[in-house]
Amino acid sequence: MDFTEESATPAVVESFAGTPDPRLREILGSLTRHLHDFIREVEPTMEEWEWGVDFLTRTGQKCDDTRQEFILLSDVLGVSMLVETINQRKAAGTAGEPVTDSTVLGPFHMVDSPERAFGDSIDMMGTGQPCVVTGRVLSVDGTPLAGAMVDVWQADDNGFYDVQQPGAQPQGNGRGLFTTDEEGRFRFSTVVPAHYPIPTDGPVGELLGATERHPYRPAHIHFIAGHTGFQPVTTHIFVEDSAYLDSDAVFAVKKSLVQTFTEVDDAALAAEYGVKAPFRLAGFDIVLRPS
Ligand code: BEZ
Ligand code: FE
Repeated sequence: MDFTEESATPAVVESFAGTPDPRLREILGSLTRHLHDFIREVEPTMEEWEWGVDFLTRTGQKCDDTRQEFILLSDVLGVSMLVETINQRKAAGTAGEPVTDSTVLGPFHMVDSPERAFGDSIDMMGTGQPCVVTGRVLSVDGTPLAGAMVDVWQADDNGFYDVQQPGAQPQGNGRGLFTTDEEGRFRFSTVVPAHYPIPTDGPVGELLGATERHPYRPAHIHFIAGHTGFQPVTTHIFVEDSAYLDSDAVFAVKKSLVQTFTEVDDAALAAEYGVKAPFRLAGFDIVLRPS
């Protein structure tokens, strides 16, 4: 065996030829080819290579039970959204019916959402602009799904999740686990969320800084919706007039998920929803595919 720039790739691919699991063999072969091509294209100096190894080492060292810097790295490189979107396309198979687009889960779905009843508020602070979100969970054929689970979580009007401000926000603020009624409906009141920065106190923050990329995500509300016999969906709705809609740090914006949060100045409707006028009103129907 004589190692050369030309022999390197086939030699390594061949070393995996005996891998019993064919999918693992395929993945390792592809990884080898792409990684070697990347190195051939970039021709890193030894210092650059060592910097890369150190960056990935520090990315791993930043991870613990509540912090996943590798997922954050995948997020800012657009990989999380690519994996998410490819898998949603594959789950659709040849049945092309439109279902609700999926997006990344994000790192802040880390506590169980408190169970709440139809129409409850998920806001436990009373600051910020009131907002009501209504919607239905439907099957692809339009049938309303009663008893569907709708888990929601969001940052507050200052752009912080409850788990980021344990002293200042009660646990469960901005979160709720709802069950749809007999017509498949859910409704909750809240405050209009603010845009916010992803965590920048680790290697991913360094990467954003070095490349002069901002760390912000446009204002959004997260949802996971599920029902027995249907494929669950993890998604967000985005506030239509939010900053950073065109430059989300994690590339999670899909057009179909941008919603109008309409200003409503109607005291009677506000009273019906249990909020003060004026408030903002957003609608979001979630469509699931049978599994
Ligand atoms: C989030 O929306 O909570 C989020 C998603 C990806 C990275 C950081 C935050
Ligand atoms: Fe978020």
